Amino acid sequence: MADAGHVPWWRDAVVYQIYPRSFLDTDGDGVGDLRGIERRLDHLVWLGVDAVWISPFYRSPMADFGYDVSDYCDVDPRFGTLADADRLIAAAHERGLRLLVDWVPNHTSDQHPWFAESRSSRSSPKRDWYHWRDGRDGGPPNNWRAAFGGRAWTFDDATGQWYLHLFLPQQPDLNWSNPDVVAAMHQVLRFWLDRGVDGFRIDVVHCIGKDPAFPDQPAQLGEIDRVGIQNEPTTHELIRGFRRLVDSYPGERTTVGEVNLGDLPSIASFYGRGDELHMVFNFLPLHAPWTKAAWQDVIGRVAQELPTGAWPTWALSNHDVRRIRTRLGGEDAARAAAVLLLTQRGTPFVYQGDELGLEDAVVPDTHRVDPGGRDGCRAPLPWEPGPSHGWPTPSPWLPWPPEADARNAASERDDGASMLHLYRDLLAMRRRSAALRRGSLHLRDAPGDVLAYERECGGDRRMVLVNFGDREAEVPLEGSWAVDVASRPQPQPGVVPAHGAAVLAPER
Ligand code: NOJ
Repeated sequence: MADAGHVPWWRDAVVYQIYPRSFLDTDGDGVGDLRGIERRLDHLVWLGVDAVWISPFYRSPMADFGYDVSDYCDVDPRFGTLADADRLIAAAHERGLRLLVDWVPNHTSDQHPWFAESRSSRSSPKRDWYHWRDGRDGGPPNNWRAAFGGRAWTFDDATGQWYLHLFLPQQPDLNWSNPDVVAAMHQVLRFWLDRGVDGFRIDVVHCIGKDPAFPDQPAQLGEIDRVGIQNEPTTHELIRGFRRLVDSYPGERTTVGEVNLGDLPSIASFYGRGDELHMVFNFLPLHAPWTKAAWQDVIGRVAQELPTGAWPTWALSNHDVRRIRTRLGGEDAARAAAVLLLTQRGTPFVYQGDELGLEDAVVPDTHRVDPGGRDGCRAPLPWEPGPSHGWPTPSPWLPWPPEADARNAASERDDGASMLHLYRDLLAMRRRSAALRRGSLHLRDAPGDVLAYERECGGDRRMVLVNFGDREAEVPLEGSWAVDVASRPQPQPGVVPAHGAAVLAPER
């Protein structure tokens, strides 16, 4: 019988997102690789994270930098080999780190053999693996737009029909209403589970089921809240299928789904009744402005609107948005944001480089490569002071982020006051505090621009104070508290500097 008090590892974990092109190169082509990740695993252990999620490293023509997969069961030669992946999984496990891979079920690359076969003729046995439709009035089958601009349908001259792609034309959408697609993609999950991965981050999982009527998008809904896709009942059934498969493996394998929807009740529905995703990304914090009111609202709504058992997730940055430091504009607020992230109730996800306080790189037009304009946050990680920052080349695939001679892993390891040490201290504090890992969260009254909340679990308590204002703030405290970790040194537990944050523990 399951132990009622047992907490699965992923609820207690902090996950570090690796964007493999930019983590570390070892073969000199200017693009990061799996051996580069393996080489720096000890750094992640030193930092104190529990798990890594690696963005796609499968075979890909790289139209969307790996989110266009042409073989789910092989490693792209730019990143290494399957043997390198096996070594990396083993090396992570030897160090007590869990490893999640990225699974991209909504679409393949147009270079995937399945799509080549599908587009070869209307009578191809794989025709129905993708969404092919006749046009309407000489145009596409409906008015849907693609995420990177343009229409979501491309006409295929050879067979005289249109295929659907919610992203680039090079990313045709799979037809998940076809049981052969389900079976083939389940095989992909098994392939990686058999190799020992601890779970999957699942790309745009809310898009996989489609209303076969493909209704037009009403103008007033805009483009994100897309009719015919968002929250289709078939998507939930398909997710229950993944869940049963993942749960059939030993070792608490897990799933975290990218559900790019702005409202929490919809996000909540992807947890199902504990039979869909283990975790669902919540992107509200990625878009929340740096104000007390906005964060109070996000934290309060997550606490109220996610049902019991729906374990929240928290992220401030990822490979698709401007970095938190760039959005906030300064180091003080970015340090306070680290405190916010690592003291929430739920599993935090740290995007590589945020722990160094990196800003987005300034990428000249001549060097821009991403169709979605996201190059800045994907800049290579500087490991050492210049000129090649610990990479084998001084000129990797994107320019370095600003001030890489000061903001790099080696220099920050030597500086106890650095952002890197703040992250490390926060991670260590989270590890030793049951209240922070698992405890309840209650918002408390606090004056002015200070947001206050308390975490508690079985007698362990922490009080978190975050000052969003640009003046020092004094918070009257009940009882006797001491600073456990603060974003900047502060004179007293209740006195928080401008754009500062502190975690307080009861004084014994
Ligand atoms: C979400 C991924 O995070 C993003 O990078 C990608 O472009 C789209 N899904 C399409 O796969």
